Amino acid sequence: MIEAAGLTKRYGGLLAVDGLDLEVDHEVFGLLGPNGSGKTTTVLMFTTLLRPTAGTARVSGHDVLREAARVRERISYVPQDMAVDIKLTGRENVAFYAALYGVRSRDRVDEVLGVMDLAERADDRAGEYSGGMRRRLELAQALVHEPEVLFLDEPTIGLDVAGRRAIWTHITDLRRRGMTVFVTTHYMDEADRACDRVGIIAKGRLVAVDTPAALRHRLDGERITVRVDRPVTPFPVDGARLVVEETDHLVFHADDAAEAVPTVLAGLAAQGVRVRGLEVEAPTLDDVFLALAGRQDEGGAFDDRRFRTMLRRR
Ligand SMILES: Nc1ncnc2c1ncn2[C@@H]1O[C@H](COP(=O)(O)OP(=O)(O)O)[C@@H](O)[C@H]1O
Ligand SMILES: [Mg+2]
Repeated sequence: MIEAAGLTKRYGGLLAVDGLDLEVDHEVFGLLGPNGSGKTTTVLMFTTLLRPTAGTARVSGHDVLREAARVRERISYVPQDMAVDIKLTGRENVAFYAALYGVRSRDRVDEVLGVMDLAERADDRAGEYSGGMRRRLELAQALVHEPEVLFLDEPTIGLDVAGRRAIWTHITDLRRRGMTVFVTTHYMDEADRACDRVGIIAKGRLVAVDTPAALRHRLDGERITVRVDRPVTPFPVDGARLVVEETDHLVFHADDAAEAVPTVLAGLAAQGVRVRGLEVEAPTLDDVFLALAGRQDEGGAFDDRRFRTMLRRR
Protein backbone atom coordinates (compact mmCIF):
# COMPACT_ATOMS: atom_id res chain seq x y z
CA MET A 1 0.00 0.00 0.00
CA ILE A 2 2.86 2.35 0.86
CA GLU A 3 6.36 1.72 -0.44
CA ALA A 4 9.32 4.06 -0.14
CA ALA A 5 12.84 3.53 -1.44
CA GLY A 6 15.56 6.00 -0.61
CA LEU A 7 12.92 8.67 -0.10
CA THR A 8 14.72 11.93 0.66
CA LYS A 9 13.78 15.56 1.22
CA ARG A 10 16.24 18.39 1.50
CA TYR A 11 15.21 21.92 2.46
CA GLY A 12 18.23 23.91 1.31
CA GLY A 13 21.09 22.59 3.42
CA LEU A 14 18.81 20.67 5.80
CA LEU A 15 18.30 16.97 5.22
CA ALA A 16 14.77 16.64 6.62
CA VAL A 17 14.14 13.05 5.44
CA ASP A 18 17.18 10.93 4.72
CA GLY A 19 16.86 7.87 2.49
CA LEU A 20 13.69 6.38 3.91
CA ASP A 21 13.03 2.73 2.99
CA LEU A 22 9.67 1.40 4.14
CA GLU A 23 6.77 -0.88 3.25
CA VAL A 24 3.40 -0.53 4.93
CA ASP A 25 0.45 -2.73 4.11
CA HIS A 26 -2.98 -3.29 5.71
CA GLU A 27 -1.95 -2.18 9.17
CA VAL A 28 -1.92 0.79 11.48
CA PHE A 29 1.61 2.07 11.07
CA GLY A 30 2.87 4.70 13.49
CA LEU A 31 5.71 7.03 12.60
CA LEU A 32 7.21 8.19 15.88
CA GLY A 33 9.73 10.94 16.36
CA PRO A 34 10.44 14.15 18.25
CA ASN A 35 9.55 17.56 16.85
CA GLY A 36 11.48 18.34 13.70
CA SER A 37 12.43 14.71 13.02
CA GLY A 38 10.76 14.67 9.59
CA LYS A 39 7.33 13.11 10.23
CA THR A 40 5.23 15.76 8.50
CA THR A 41 7.69 16.00 5.61
CA THR A 42 7.37 12.24 5.11
CA VAL A 43 3.58 12.40 5.13
CA LEU A 44 3.58 15.34 2.69
CA MET A 45 5.68 13.34 0.22
CA PHE A 46 3.44 10.26 0.48
CA THR A 47 0.36 12.41 -0.04
CA THR A 48 1.85 14.04 -3.19
CA LEU A 49 1.87 17.48 -1.56
CA LEU A 50 5.65 17.78 -1.48
CA ARG A 51 8.14 16.76 -4.15
CA PRO A 52 10.88 14.39 -2.93
CA THR A 53 14.46 15.51 -3.55
CA ALA A 54 15.46 11.92 -4.29
CA GLY A 55 14.14 8.39 -4.07
CA THR A 56 10.72 7.00 -4.91
CA ALA A 57 7.43 6.39 -3.18
CA ARG A 58 4.40 4.44 -4.31
CA VAL A 59 1.04 4.60 -2.58
CA SER A 60 -1.81 2.27 -3.52
CA GLY A 61 0.32 1.01 -6.38
CA HIS A 62 1.00 4.41 -7.95
CA ASP A 63 4.08 6.58 -8.05
CA VAL A 64 3.62 9.78 -6.03
CA LEU A 65 5.37 11.88 -8.67
CA ARG A 66 4.31 10.40 -12.00
CA GLU A 67 0.80 9.33 -10.99
CA ALA A 68 -0.05 11.87 -8.33
CA ALA A 69 -3.71 12.16 -9.37
CA ARG A 70 -4.16 8.38 -9.08
CA VAL A 71 -2.61 8.43 -5.63
CA ARG A 72 -4.86 11.28 -4.50
CA GLU A 73 -8.00 9.42 -5.57
CA ARG A 74 -7.10 6.55 -3.30
CA ILE A 75 -5.90 8.28 -0.16
CA SER A 76 -7.00 10.75 2.47
CA TYR A 77 -4.92 13.07 4.56
CA VAL A 78 -5.84 14.78 7.80
CA PRO A 79 -3.23 17.44 8.60
CA GLN A 80 -2.19 18.29 12.11
CA ASP A 81 -3.92 21.67 12.02
CA MET A 82 -7.67 22.02 12.03
CA ALA A 83 -9.35 21.28 8.73
CA VAL A 84 -13.04 21.93 9.45
CA ASP A 85 -15.07 25.06 8.78
CA ILE A 86 -16.46 26.13 12.15
CA LYS A 87 -19.23 28.16 10.51
CA LEU A 88 -20.67 25.11 8.77
CA THR A 89 -22.54 22.24 10.40
CA GLY A 90 -20.90 18.85 10.69
CA ARG A 91 -23.02 17.54 7.82
CA GLU A 92 -22.19 20.55 5.62
CA ASN A 93 -18.49 20.06 6.27
CA VAL A 94 -18.66 16.43 5.16
CA ALA A 95 -20.93 17.26 2.22
CA PHE A 96 -18.35 19.79 1.05
CA TYR A 97 -15.67 17.08 0.97
CA ALA A 98 -18.09 14.71 -0.74
CA ALA A 99 -18.61 17.32 -3.47
CA LEU A 100 -14.84 17.84 -3.85
CA TYR A 101 -14.39 14.12 -4.42
CA GLY A 102 -17.46 13.78 -6.67
CA VAL A 103 -19.27 11.59 -4.15
CA ARG A 104 -22.97 12.18 -4.84
CA SER A 105 -24.55 9.87 -2.29
CA ARG A 106 -26.13 11.69 0.64
CA ASP A 107 -26.28 8.36 2.42
CA ARG A 108 -22.51 8.21 2.32
CA VAL A 109 -22.30 11.54 4.16
CA ASP A 110 -24.66 10.27 6.85
CA GLU A 111 -22.83 6.97 7.00
CA VAL A 112 -19.43 8.49 7.76
CA LEU A 113 -20.96 10.87 10.30
CA GLY A 114 -22.48 7.79 11.95
CA VAL A 115 -19.18 5.91 11.85
CA MET A 116 -17.55 8.80 13.71
CA ASP A 117 -20.40 8.99 16.28
CA LEU A 118 -21.49 12.40 15.06
CA ALA A 119 -24.99 11.59 13.75
CA GLU A 120 -26.77 13.28 16.63
CA ARG A 121 -24.74 16.47 16.33
CA ALA A 122 -24.60 16.52 12.51
CA ASP A 123 -26.75 19.65 12.23
CA ASP A 124 -24.88 21.67 14.85
CA ARG A 125 -22.20 24.05 13.72
CA ALA A 126 -18.68 22.63 13.99
CA GLY A 127 -17.77 25.72 16.03
CA GLU A 128 -19.84 24.25 18.85
CA TYR A 129 -17.98 20.92 18.77
CA SER A 130 -15.34 19.88 21.30
CA GLY A 131 -11.78 19.32 20.09
CA GLY A 132 -12.38 15.58 19.97
CA MET A 133 -15.57 15.99 17.92
CA ARG A 134 -13.77 18.26 15.44
CA ARG A 135 -11.08 15.62 15.02
CA ARG A 136 -13.77 12.99 14.41
CA LEU A 137 -15.40 15.32 11.89
CA GLU A 138 -12.08 15.60 10.07
CA LEU A 139 -11.90 11.81 10.00
CA ALA A 140 -15.48 11.67 8.66
CA GLN A 141 -14.48 14.07 5.88
CA ALA A 142 -11.42 11.98 5.13
CA LEU A 143 -13.49 8.80 4.84
CA VAL A 144 -16.22 10.08 2.55
CA HIS A 145 -14.62 8.84 -0.68
CA GLU A 146 -13.65 5.48 0.80
CA PRO A 147 -9.87 5.84 0.67
CA GLU A 148 -7.61 2.80 0.69
CA VAL A 149 -4.94 4.57 2.70
CA LEU A 150 -5.48 7.17 5.40
CA PHE A 151 -2.69 9.52 6.52
CA LEU A 152 -3.11 11.18 9.91
CA ASP A 153 -0.57 13.70 11.19
CA GLU A 154 -0.61 13.89 15.01
CA PRO A 155 -4.34 13.07 15.23
CA THR A 156 -4.55 13.15 19.02
CA ILE A 157 -2.49 16.25 19.73
CA GLY A 158 -4.28 18.70 22.03
CA LEU A 159 -7.11 16.31 22.91
CA ASP A 160 -8.06 15.18 26.40
CA VAL A 161 -7.65 11.55 27.44
CA ALA A 162 -11.18 10.52 26.47
CA GLY A 163 -10.87 12.28 23.11
CA ARG A 164 -7.59 10.55 22.38
CA ARG A 165 -8.94 7.17 23.28
CA ALA A 166 -11.94 7.68 20.98
CA ILE A 167 -9.70 8.63 18.05
CA TRP A 168 -7.53 5.52 18.50
CA THR A 169 -10.61 3.31 18.77
CA HIS A 170 -11.81 4.70 15.44
CA ILE A 171 -8.37 4.23 13.88
CA THR A 172 -8.22 0.57 14.89
CA ASP A 173 -11.82 0.10 13.67
CA LEU A 174 -10.85 1.48 10.26
CA ARG A 175 -7.96 -0.96 10.14
CA ARG A 176 -10.40 -3.78 10.88
CA ARG A 177 -12.48 -2.65 7.91
CA GLY A 178 -9.43 -3.14 5.71
CA MET A 179 -7.94 0.33 5.57
CA THR A 180 -4.22 1.02 5.80
CA VAL A 181 -3.58 3.81 8.31
CA PHE A 182 -0.32 5.76 8.45
CA VAL A 183 -0.25 7.88 11.56
CA THR A 184 2.38 10.13 13.11
CA THR A 185 2.50 10.74 16.84
CA HIS A 186 4.85 11.43 19.67
CA TYR A 187 2.58 9.79 22.26
CA MET A 188 4.45 6.54 22.74
CA ASP A 189 1.93 4.86 25.04
CA GLU A 190 -0.83 5.43 22.49
CA ALA A 191 1.28 4.08 19.66
CA ASP A 192 2.18 1.06 21.76
CA ARG A 193 -1.48 0.16 22.25
CA ALA A 194 -2.89 1.01 18.84
CA CYS A 195 -0.23 0.48 16.15
CA ASP A 196 0.53 -2.85 14.53
CA ARG A 197 4.04 -1.62 13.76
CA VAL A 198 5.91 1.57 14.45
CA GLY A 199 8.88 3.27 12.85
CA ILE A 200 11.13 5.52 14.88
CA ILE A 201 12.48 8.54 13.02
CA ALA A 202 15.29 10.70 14.39
CA LYS A 203 16.74 13.63 12.45
CA GLY A 204 15.21 12.37 9.23
CA ARG A 205 16.55 8.86 9.57
CA LEU A 206 14.30 5.87 10.17
CA VAL A 207 16.26 4.12 12.89
CA ALA A 208 13.95 1.18 13.70
CA VAL A 209 10.79 -0.45 12.34
CA ASP A 210 9.04 -3.21 14.25
CA THR A 211 6.05 -4.12 16.37
CA PRO A 212 5.90 -2.16 19.64
CA ALA A 213 6.42 -5.36 21.63
CA ALA A 214 9.47 -6.40 19.63
CA LEU A 215 10.99 -2.96 20.10
CA ARG A 216 10.38 -3.05 23.84
CA HIS A 217 12.02 -6.44 24.06
CA ARG A 218 15.16 -5.09 22.41
CA LEU A 219 15.88 -3.09 25.55
CA ASP A 220 17.30 -4.91 28.50
CA GLY A 221 17.32 -3.46 31.96
CA GLU A 222 14.77 -1.51 33.93
CA ARG A 223 13.30 1.95 34.23
CA ILE A 224 13.57 3.66 37.61
CA THR A 225 11.28 6.64 38.20
CA VAL A 226 11.99 8.75 41.29
CA ARG A 227 9.59 11.50 42.36
CA VAL A 228 11.39 14.29 44.20
CA ASP A 229 10.38 17.42 46.10
CA ARG A 230 12.72 19.84 44.32
CA PRO A 231 14.98 20.11 41.24
CA VAL A 232 18.05 17.90 41.34
CA THR A 233 21.57 18.52 40.07
CA PRO A 234 22.38 15.50 37.85
CA PHE A 235 24.92 13.09 39.31
CA PRO A 236 26.55 9.91 37.97
CA VAL A 237 25.12 6.51 38.88
CA ASP A 238 27.10 3.36 38.08
CA GLY A 239 25.18 1.05 35.75
CA ALA A 240 22.41 3.60 35.14
CA ARG A 241 21.75 6.54 32.88
CA LEU A 242 19.58 9.58 33.55
CA VAL A 243 17.09 9.85 30.67
CA VAL A 244 14.42 12.22 31.98
CA GLU A 245 15.10 15.16 34.26
CA GLU A 246 12.08 17.19 35.36
CA THR A 247 11.67 19.42 38.39
CA ASP A 248 9.52 16.82 40.17
CA HIS A 249 10.79 13.52 38.81
CA LEU A 250 13.78 11.74 37.31
CA VAL A 251 13.93 8.61 35.18
CA PHE A 252 16.98 6.38 35.01
CA HIS A 253 17.60 3.38 32.80
CA ALA A 254 19.47 0.79 34.77
CA ASP A 255 20.97 -2.54 33.78
CA ASP A 256 20.03 -3.82 37.22
CA ALA A 257 17.69 -1.64 39.30
CA ALA A 258 18.51 -3.41 42.56
CA GLU A 259 22.13 -2.32 42.16
CA ALA A 260 21.40 1.21 40.99
CA VAL A 261 18.67 2.24 43.43
CA PRO A 262 20.93 2.60 46.51
CA THR A 263 23.32 4.86 44.57
CA VAL A 264 20.39 6.93 43.29
CA LEU A 265 19.00 7.34 46.79
CA ALA A 266 22.43 8.20 48.24
CA GLY A 267 22.97 10.82 45.51
CA LEU A 268 19.62 12.42 46.27
CA ALA A 269 20.20 12.33 50.02
CA ALA A 270 23.56 14.07 49.50
CA GLN A 271 21.67 16.96 47.88
CA GLY A 272 19.12 17.05 50.69
CA VAL A 273 16.35 16.03 48.29
CA ARG A 274 13.33 14.20 49.69
CA VAL A 275 12.13 11.20 47.71
CA ARG A 276 8.36 11.18 47.33
CA GLY A 277 8.13 7.88 45.50
CA LEU A 278 10.15 5.35 43.55
CA GLU A 279 9.04 2.86 40.92
CA VAL A 280 10.88 0.18 38.98
CA GLU A 281 9.30 -1.04 35.74
CA ALA A 282 10.12 -2.96 32.57
CA PRO A 283 11.13 -0.76 29.60
CA THR A 284 8.29 1.02 27.78
CA LEU A 285 8.13 2.22 24.19
CA ASP A 286 9.10 5.62 25.62
CA ASP A 287 12.39 4.11 26.73
CA VAL A 288 13.01 2.58 23.33
CA PHE A 289 12.24 5.91 21.78
CA LEU A 290 14.61 7.71 24.16
CA ALA A 291 17.35 5.21 23.47
CA LEU A 292 16.93 5.51 19.71
CA ALA A 293 15.89 9.09 19.19
CA GLY A 294 17.49 10.79 22.17
CA ARG A 295 15.87 13.11 24.63
CA GLN A 296 13.12 15.26 23.19
CA ASP A 297 14.10 18.37 25.11
CA GLU A 298 17.49 18.25 23.43
CA GLY A 299 15.80 18.44 20.08
CA GLY A 300 16.22 14.74 19.50
CA ALA A 301 19.91 14.38 20.25
CA PHE A 302 20.95 11.00 19.02
CA ASP A 303 22.51 8.53 21.43
CA ASP A 304 24.81 6.60 19.13
CA ARG A 305 26.31 4.41 21.81
CA ARG A 306 22.93 3.27 23.07
CA PHE A 307 21.70 2.73 19.54
CA ARG A 308 24.64 0.54 18.58
CA THR A 309 24.05 -1.54 21.69
CA MET A 310 20.44 -2.02 20.66
CA LEU A 311 21.32 -2.96 17.10
CA ARG A 312 23.64 -5.68 18.35
CA ARG A 313 20.72 -7.23 20.20
CA ARG A 314 18.59 -7.66 17.08
N1 LIG B 1 9.16 24.21 4.30
C1 LIG B 1 10.27 24.04 5.01
N2 LIG B 1 11.39 24.73 4.74
C2 LIG B 1 12.52 24.54 5.44
N3 LIG B 1 12.65 23.66 6.46
C3 LIG B 1 11.56 22.94 6.78
C4 LIG B 1 10.32 23.09 6.09
N4 LIG B 1 9.42 22.23 6.64
C5 LIG B 1 10.07 21.60 7.62
N5 LIG B 1 11.33 22.02 7.72
C6 LIG B 1 12.36 21.49 8.64
O1 LIG B 1 12.54 20.11 8.36
C7 LIG B 1 12.67 19.35 9.55
C8 LIG B 1 11.57 18.31 9.63
O2 LIG B 1 10.35 18.99 9.82
P1 LIG B 1 8.96 18.20 9.94
O3 LIG B 1 8.85 17.23 8.82
O4 LIG B 1 7.90 19.22 10.04
O5 LIG B 1 9.15 17.41 11.31
P2 LIG B 1 8.06 16.84 12.33
O6 LIG B 1 6.76 16.73 11.63
O7 LIG B 1 8.62 15.50 12.74
O8 LIG B 1 8.03 17.79 13.48
C9 LIG B 1 12.67 20.37 10.68
O9 LIG B 1 13.99 20.70 10.98
C10 LIG B 1 11.94 21.55 10.09
O10 LIG B 1 12.34 22.74 10.70
MG1 LIG C 1 4.88 17.53 12.16
